[in-house]
Amino acid sequence: MAAPIDADPASPEGSTMTTPVNDTPDLRATARAMVAPGKGILAADESTGTIAKRFSAIGVENTEPNRRDYRELLFRTPGMAEYVSGVILFDETIRQRGADGTPLVEHLVAQGVIPGIKVDAGAQPLAFAPGETVTEGLDGLRERLQEYRTLGARFTKWRAVIHIGDDTPSGYAIDVNAHALARYAALCQEVGLVPIVEPEVLMDGPHGIDECFEVTEITLREVFAQLAQHGVELDAMVLKPNMVVSGTEARERADPASVAAHTIRCFARTVPVAVPGIAFLSGGQSDAEATANLDAINREAAKVGAPWELTFSYGRGLQAAPQAAWGGRAENARAAQEAFLHRARLAAAARSGAYDPAMEDEVTTIPS
Ligand code: 13P
Repeated sequence: MAAPIDADPASPEGSTMTTPVNDTPDLRATARAMVAPGKGILAADESTGTIAKRFSAIGVENTEPNRRDYRELLFRTPGMAEYVSGVILFDETIRQRGADGTPLVEHLVAQGVIPGIKVDAGAQPLAFAPGETVTEGLDGLRERLQEYRTLGARFTKWRAVIHIGDDTPSGYAIDVNAHALARYAALCQEVGLVPIVEPEVLMDGPHGIDECFEVTEITLREVFAQLAQHGVELDAMVLKPNMVVSGTEARERADPASVAAHTIRCFARTVPVAVPGIAFLSGGQSDAEATANLDAINREAAKVGAPWELTFSYGRGLQAAPQAAWGGRAENARAAQEAFLHRARLAAAARSGAYDPAMEDEVTTIPS
């Protein structure tokens, strides 16, 4: 039976949860704060393997101290809270302390930034489905979520990956990924954490924007059907989807106006108005491209009166520039912070439909 509308979604009546959460924050308020006007989310939850690729591109060895130093400089960027509502951390990071012994999570909280945590265990090959994956990590998830809550997390992320190819995606792959996303989201709300539900239709491949539209629409329909089936409170979650874009190897790439029109139309057909916000991944777009597309999406949304906040939850779209500026050298920390603040400021402008490509050439200075 559905919980009454004013019930605390973290403590549903008749719940069989093992450890009741006594200090549950209002999940709906947290979800709204994550997509607050003018702000978006930094995805800094690269697994050790993924950050290895980013570090290798800038000639930095992938060691624990290097990962800590890099993330510490990001999280201590003065002024970031003006543009960044929350940060998604990786398991290692939520347990790390900075140079002065302060937990990195506390640096975020001190700035008024909400800590979150990636809780999936990654996409693995799906049996009998060549070229497709299913995201794993449900076993023992309730207990891990409870621990993350004690470590300071207030929201979570789980990423499902949908592959567009000659014979994919199959309905089977969409179903199992949507089912896992819904099981994850329900567990999070039970424990008192806001789930970011991330079904990513990958942009890899030569497909056009219409195929991305079709696959994104089918995927989101299934995701919301499963969320309903699992009793997930839609006003206490954040959706993190791909934008509807052309494949990276498409002969003609759709421009931002076309991306915006396709994206808003796709979501209008699939995403319930109860969802407070949609925070896009950048998914391999360049930082300028991800920013221009988000800006166009917000302009289109204002024209048609779209009901959700439309913001960013970028990894590469916010970090490529600071990583290049840092290059593993402590003396570059301030330059890296400025590069990060610059990208965050531009993404925040785009999130309000107030971005101008000329802003790319401006300099963003750290507030003193
Ligand atoms: P990108 O913006 O680099 O796609 O990363 C966002 C993310 O968290 C993917 O799960």
